[in-house]
Amino acid sequence: MKIIKEINTLRNFLKEERKKQKTIGFVPTMGFFHQGHLKLIQEAKKNSDVVVVSIFVNPTQFGPNEDFNQYPRDLKKDIELAEKEKVDYLFTPSVQEIYQDDFLTYVNVEELGAKLCGKDRPVHFKGVTTVVAKLFNIVNPDKSFFGEKDAQQLVIIKKMVKDLNFDVEIIGVPTVREEDGLAMSSRNIYLNLKERKAALVLFKSLELAKEKIEKGERNSKVIKNEMEELIKKEKLVNLIYISVSNAENLEELDVLEGKVLIALAAKLRKTRLIDNLFLNIKLTTP
Ligand code: PAJ
Repeated sequence: MKIIKEINTLRNFLKEERKKQKTIGFVPTMGFFHQGHLKLIQEAKKNSDVVVVSIFVNPTQFGPNEDFNQYPRDLKKDIELAEKEKVDYLFTPSVQEIYQDDFLTYVNVEELGAKLCGKDRPVHFKGVTTVVAKLFNIVNPDKSFFGEKDAQQLVIIKKMVKDLNFDVEIIGVPTVREEDGLAMSSRNIYLNLKERKAALVLFKSLELAKEKIEKGERNSKVIKNEMEELIKKEKLVNLIYISVSNAENLEELDVLEGKVLIALAAKLRKTRLIDNLFLNIKLTTP
């Protein structure tokens, strides 16, 4: 595995790979790897000749009062894990390498970035799309892999690729969970034991929604209320939102039909967690 910090060095290596007709799979990350990241890397390995993984804690996607400085980092362990997964190129640029002092250009997917998590993280998705666009221009991958865990991010990246004609296929990978169901996240490390236990209610509320839908419930208000009631029972969990939307354009739905995304965000003390469920729903015939 080659560990590369400079854009030009990575470009030169990848130019050679492309000359050999190799397809390039790319997994952008902020590091502190868990099984979710590793699943993305494994999918990239299965679906491409050469795998590039980036580790870059991207300052522009953190708001002024968010956890950029505290965000967990462990490059040594990430390198070991990436090596085990047979990553070909690990790209670990500095902030200065990605954002030079005179940086002025941003990529923003209008509207979609203002919904759901965009309401309490107003600059987040603009930072994500900007850095992912830059990384796509640096790596020029054939395929890039994103987790369904960050559902809104996946929807927005797909839209950016379509709108700006990026020549890359975006592949969504299902959420990897802990044994009890909690979605894996680098931020789970912030949780103390009590919070870790309480956080499970987020997954449980999604399971409850699924159960209701399987029994025929199609009214989004009813589903949201049931989820909210369950979450309220955990005093350590402060719900930020529950959304039931069209999984392609994130428009809120009154009646569940077609490709549906049920997504939520909550705070446990200072730790912000998200989880979701993608569903394909047929309207029940009366
Ligand atoms: P990060 O949070 O490190 O996540 C990197 C990738 O791993 C994302 O595509 C995310 O959806 C995926 N992922 C995280 N937890 C997962 C889980 N439990 N199961 C499956 N996939 C999971 O997302 C980012 O970084 C950044 O916003 C980034 C896209 C790198 C831009 O800076």
